[in-house]
Amino acid sequence: MNVQNLPKHSADATTAEEGLALQEELAKFDSDAATALAMQNTLLTPRFYTTDFDELDAIDVSSVREDWDLLIDQMVSDPNKGHFKKNEDWDHVDWDGMDPHLKKEFIDFLVSSCTAEFSGCVLYKEMKRRGNNKDITQLFQLMARDEARHAGFINDALREAGIAVNLGFLTQKKKYTYFRPKFIYYATYLSEKIGYARYITIFRHLQENPEHRFHPIFKWFEEWCNDEFSHGEAFALLMKTDPKLTSGINVYWIKFFLTAVYATMYVRDHQRPAFHEALGVDPDWYAHEVYTKTSKLSEQIFPITLDIDHPRWQRGLEALYRANVDLAEATEKKQTLRKLGAQLRAGMAFVSLITIPAKKHQVPASTRLEPAY
Ligand SMILES: [Fe+2]
Ligand SMILES: [Fe+2]
Repeated sequence: MNVQNLPKHSADATTAEEGLALQEELAKFDSDAATALAMQNTLLTPRFYTTDFDELDAIDVSSVREDWDLLIDQMVSDPNKGHFKKNEDWDHVDWDGMDPHLKKEFIDFLVSSCTAEFSGCVLYKEMKRRGNNKDITQLFQLMARDEARHAGFINDALREAGIAVNLGFLTQKKKYTYFRPKFIYYATYLSEKIGYARYITIFRHLQENPEHRFHPIFKWFEEWCNDEFSHGEAFALLMKTDPKLTSGINVYWIKFFLTAVYATMYVRDHQRPAFHEALGVDPDWYAHEVYTKTSKLSEQIFPITLDIDHPRWQRGLEALYRANVDLAEATEKKQTLRKLGAQLRAGMAFVSLITIPAKKHQVPASTRLEPAY
């Protein structure tokens, strides 16, 4: 791609390829430490995925055509073109004056968010490249466009702190995890909807408590979460084309993914106490808020939701978190026995969470929803 012909900013890019080429131009300033952080593959860090692209390409969306066309038209109209760039609302950030704990946790948050956004971009872009089905390739191209902008914008914020993630390097070097298409639907649908719930909950909280907005990027979260909402809608429609995906034995898989995604969020957020304190957010309250919203939304397609008010739920999450803290410490100090014990406790906490009886309900005929929070 000729750099001269590129738009000036990834926010104006109309394809993922353009956006990424721009990021690549900036990559010479990117820092090794942030990229190394993004390269990590643990249970808690965002991964890159690959799948059976032919199976995905074979999806026939005619049974959901009306809702499909509405969604695609809205994405083609591109309401957020040009949104993801710094403007006069971008206040000066005093990185040097920031409390070191907050700075560390906030950078960790930005790097992990950037990696997650970029993980979506890589997967969607690959599907667009490999497919022949016009409906599918068009959808994935549009979603890749959005995720490239999101990742690019977070990197812009990181660059002010003197660091950024080298996205080109990640594409080539980060390990890819293979997931069957149905697991991609469950995991990606959930990460889009929980992403929406996370961004909108922080945005609304800061609207009411602007004194806690310690960085300007939060001002962009409202439009941002609308993109994620649409992406989630698309996956709901994809799952709707095949009722088997949300019935029978697959309901157990849905329960597994719901539990894993919620539990991961809990553990990861609780590792950032200074960040949440600066936002004026209690991470337990935040988790419950986000689960409530995500559960409500996911009723559009999943026949079950987790019982997050069950007495074992909060206890299980806390046990899982403590086991993880222990595990990290034992790993660092190379204490094999203690590490094994912590792994066992983490496993038991997860089992205790996943065996809480789920709530069942009737799934509506149409999946269609509008962002309402
Ligand atoms: Fe995104
Ligand atoms: Fe997304």
